[in-house]
Amino acid sequence: MVRHKLRSSDFLSLDMLDGDELEDLLDEALRLKAEGVKGFRPLAHRTIGLLFEKPSTRTRVSFEVAVITLGGHPLTLSGGELQLGRGETIEDTGRVLSRYVDGLVVRTFGHDRLTALAAASGVPVINALTDLCHPCQALADMLTIMEYKGSLAGLKLAYVGDGNNVANSLLRAGTLLGMNVTVSTPESHAPEARIIEECIEHCETYGSSMELGHDPTYGVRGADIVYTDAWVSMGAGEDPESAREAFKGFQVNDELLSGASDDVMVMHCLPAHRGEEITDEVIDGSRSAVWDQAENRLHAQVALLGMIFS
Ligand code: CP
Ligand code: NVA
Repeated sequence: MVRHKLRSSDFLSLDMLDGDELEDLLDEALRLKAEGVKGFRPLAHRTIGLLFEKPSTRTRVSFEVAVITLGGHPLTLSGGELQLGRGETIEDTGRVLSRYVDGLVVRTFGHDRLTALAAASGVPVINALTDLCHPCQALADMLTIMEYKGSLAGLKLAYVGDGNNVANSLLRAGTLLGMNVTVSTPESHAPEARIIEECIEHCETYGSSMELGHDPTYGVRGADIVYTDAWVSMGAGEDPESAREAFKGFQVNDELLSGASDDVMVMHCLPAHRGEEITDEVIDGSRSAVWDQAENRLHAQVALLGMIFS
């Protein structure tokens, strides 16, 4: 039962869940979205610290609202205004903050920074994005696909662009849930090797498939879902001009989508760089699911927090 596994636990990446547990969590999110939380207030008299070392619109606000929805008090902290910005270690920061708050939602750089903080903290720590993965995003992504398509297993999900944190979590979630995932990236921007290894095992266990390549036209052929993200992630330090060069041909536009399924849905975790990885026509068009996808960050996180803190 996912409820037992998540109770009082960290949520650092999707690798802690099996396919059934992930499905249960998504079902709970769908249920809470449909029925509302009613009197469910597991965070009453509790404070959740939200520590962001990188900018955020969706994750920060949706977590703040999710905490309030469950009766709690969110306390948002930016790395720069803490002593962390003057060199206090991430471990010491976690040790101290966890004496004041009941849980921490953390966006940071290296994933090892998150795991070090979690190891030193005495309260549950939730990953709000690291350079390696963005598991809360993937929860909302899968929830949105379930709403649009009715189910997940057997659907073709084509990711196009940078093999980044979002791609890594999407690969994990898609292969845990029986999807056929293609990832098309420039050779220089492939997903993380150890996540690919893990997803090969998922494919054997869950009857899913995964194909990695460098030709987006091939990758999106017949796809039910086409997903993209920024070419340059926060903290990646890549020169935008050289990225534009590397990602030539990887834009999600009408021409690329002409090879996808007739009822393809288009996804983007946002923020979008219109005119780069996606065109205005596509993101604002009838196939775009991005605003529902952004809303679902809230519903997925209400379910997640509900399971961790009840
Ligand atoms: N998708 C997402 O995580 O957006 P933010 O960076 O605005 O939180
Ligand atoms: N890959 C992007 C996701 C932003 C939500 C980044 O890390 O900047």
